[in-house]
Amino acid sequence: MHALSSLLLLGAYATQAVFGRPEDLHARREAAIIKRSVDSFIQTQTPISWERLLCNIGSDGCRAQGAASGVVVASPSKSNPDYWYTWTRDAALVLKGIAEAFTHDYNTTLQRQVQNFVGSQAKLQGVSNPVGDLSNGAGLGEVKFYVDLTKFTGEWGRPQRDGPPLRAIAMMTYARWLINNGYTSTARDIVWPVIKNDLTYTAQYWNQTGFDLWEEVQGSSFFTITASHRALIEGAVLAQSLGTSCTACSTVAPRILCFVQSFWNQNQGYVVSNINGGNYRNGRDANSLLASIHNFDAAVGCDANTFQPCSDKALSNHKSVVDSFRSIYTINRGIAQGHAVAVGRYSEDVYYNGNPWYLTTLAAAEQLYDSLIVWKQQGSITVTSLSLAFFRDLVPSVTTGTFSSSSSTYTAIINAVQTYADEFLAIIDSRKLPNGALPEQFDRNTGTPIAASDLTWSYSAFLTATARRAGKVPPSWSAATGNTLPNNCAAVAVAGTYATATNTNFPTSQTPGVPSSTTTGSTPTPTGCSEVLVTFNERASTQWGQNIKLVGNHPALGNWNPSNGILLSAAGYTSSDPLWSISVLLPAGQSIEYKYVNVQSDGSVRWESDPNRQFTVPSTCNEVVRGDNWR
Ligand SMILES: *[C@@H]1O[C@H](CO)[C@@H](O)[C@H](O)[C@H]1NC(C)=O
Ligand SMILES: *[C@@H]1O[C@H](CO)[C@@H](O)[C@H](O)[C@H]1NC(C)=O
Repeated sequence: MHALSSLLLLGAYATQAVFGRPEDLHARREAAIIKRSVDSFIQTQTPISWERLLCNIGSDGCRAQGAASGVVVASPSKSNPDYWYTWTRDAALVLKGIAEAFTHDYNTTLQRQVQNFVGSQAKLQGVSNPVGDLSNGAGLGEVKFYVDLTKFTGEWGRPQRDGPPLRAIAMMTYARWLINNGYTSTARDIVWPVIKNDLTYTAQYWNQTGFDLWEEVQGSSFFTITASHRALIEGAVLAQSLGTSCTACSTVAPRILCFVQSFWNQNQGYVVSNINGGNYRNGRDANSLLASIHNFDAAVGCDANTFQPCSDKALSNHKSVVDSFRSIYTINRGIAQGHAVAVGRYSEDVYYNGNPWYLTTLAAAEQLYDSLIVWKQQGSITVTSLSLAFFRDLVPSVTTGTFSSSSSTYTAIINAVQTYADEFLAIIDSRKLPNGALPEQFDRNTGTPIAASDLTWSYSAFLTATARRAGKVPPSWSAATGNTLPNNCAAVAVAGTYATATNTNFPTSQTPGVPSSTTTGSTPTPTGCSEVLVTFNERASTQWGQNIKLVGNHPALGNWNPSNGILLSAAGYTSSDPLWSISVLLPAGQSIEYKYVNVQSDGSVRWESDPNRQFTVPSTCNEVVRGDNWR
């Protein structure tokens, strides 16, 4: 008896000597402490975050008096800084989170918020503003509005092209819920017309520059471009399940996916967040962390083309972006590699002296929780030479390879990533206000909460990160139908038509139900070639300030009215080849008459000489290219 127990004791020591080196035991104990404290933080902070988030939404939110119904106020702060506006991007991301939460747990309060949002955005789409109006969609690129839904005319970094795709994504989440619960006609008649304007905008304007999500760089932003791709893929699938089609979506999306790849810096292993502008920065930016988490689709695994959170590219980028903040903030000093630090927007930031933000630190956590969901779902983790450095920070002995869930390496990685993610949340815990309020930033030197109070997006970021930690998978956006690169990567922008959505009265009592029989299990039928992509290339030498438009005998061509005509893009214009170009989807078999007009900077219009140009749209699926010279 005595001998046996000392043998067991000896065995225990022996085991500990091999597998349980003192530092491992220490790390495991630390991890358990962090987990417990983050568990309890989440339990307290979740109801606070919901309450304070909903307080910022009109018309009855407790801090949103004066805001119209369904309007998400960025922050109740009216001075230093004045955020008493509704930003299309912020509002869309907040509603995306609400719609997801609603999809997981039916809740009438959240349903009413989503419905109010759809109604408010239908109105907002029709508000003409400094960027333009709805006639050619340009006005949808406006950045922010007053909370009573009137236009803001002050100077700003305009346009910002992430608003429309993100808003479409938020509304599509609700549209799919409606379809899945037997309310397809509501999705089609009320929500789709609002979504459609945003998708049309995305297909038409994605290949033009605009300001990034931080409103500072004019160029092409990774966050905007990945959101554009997602919206069009999701839109094509949703259109089919509503018995309609979005040909522009399916035509354009693959070309955007090509462009998405060009932000990748292979030598450095990170995404250059702004290209076609912003070259004075090193490119590492929380822009790319946000792009990754907002395009998460667990059904497509660790796909790198769509920059899934657990793809080797996105993990390498995660390390690169997080590391870029290690040495620059005083509050991050002394924290070892492989442990979480406070994350800001980008290292050159000077806004409020450049600080960590709650929502960017939370994004770093969320990407890791997303990855854990997929690894557990697929029962393995693949470490490539690209992601090796990310993994080595956490598990120094790891090598490249695929580790199945039965291996000790898999377990070591899962535990280490979980703890690493929890550490980012522990930072939020330590930097929140005592009452749980989350403003925009915390001071880089002292950690004190600063800048806009009660930032709606901060609460939303907390709620989505912790939902992922709890294993809540966001609804799929059908990434698997659109993650292969096409053979033809030439940019194509498709001009479309826009209409104010007028029907925004949702029927009452739309409780969970079953899909209506017409949609149950029905596979969407291919739309064939009812519409054909026609590219108009016009060579016309123009002066600065002049624009070339296309007008013709079809609504898509403005019905001969130059103010509704389609603006051509001068992206390919050079002095030796004065090319203006645009693509339009036109009905197969349609007989088309058209002309180009030159719109002078004072708005006056010069028409081409007679006769009208004419052709018939073929009834085949082949794209048509018209080559014209100004006359
Ligand atoms: C709906 O969810 C919100 C946020 O979690 C919560 O505050 C509210 O009590 C819920 N309402 C209902 C009716 O369940
Ligand atoms: C337009 O797309 C092409 C092809 O992907 C790309 O090279 C170009 O930089 C894009 N420009 C803008 C402004 O998006």
